[in-house]
Amino acid sequence: MHNTTIEKSTLGQRLAALSLAALSTVLATATLAADRAREPAEVYRQVCAHCHNLDKAVGPQITMPFPEAAWEARGDYIHTTVREGRAAMPSLRNAKISDTELEGLIDALLRGELADTAAGKE
Ligand code: HEC
Repeated sequence: MHNTTIEKSTLGQRLAALSLAALSTVLATATLAADRAREPAEVYRQVCAHCHNLDKAVGPQITMPFPEAAWEARGDYIHTTVREGRAAMPSLRNAKISDTELEGLIDALLRGELADTAAGKE
């Protein structure tokens, strides 16, 4: 009788340990996915800066803030420009910049948050 009780609790502990292990796997995977999306400033520096930084001037300045009323139109314009290219600017596909990263980048660009990054101050 006593033995059965011990076995049961051991099994319970094993199950608890198992589900904890499963949970931490899920958490680790979620963290990894989140880690893969780079911060807007990092994306800008890695993908846009070598043409758009003020000292490069291959492409025009794109980091000036826009008034909120223009965000939707300007955001669509940036999105189309990045995905389809524009004149001398090549199109940039998902392998270069994910949808999540592009959304974050556009948001930061519209708010003027990357102005210092473009000027090489950050
Ligand atoms: C290989 C160089 C190059 C890279 C890399 C590049 N661009 Fe461009 N971009 C250009 C050029 C050149 C133009 C001007 C195109 C034209 O003549 O209309 C331009 C134009 C633009 C415009 C239109 C500007 C305006 O106000 O009309 C936007 C927006 C833009 N780029 C965003 C980006 C973003 C965001 C990135 C990074 C994800 C990026 N570009 C990466 C070269 C580049």
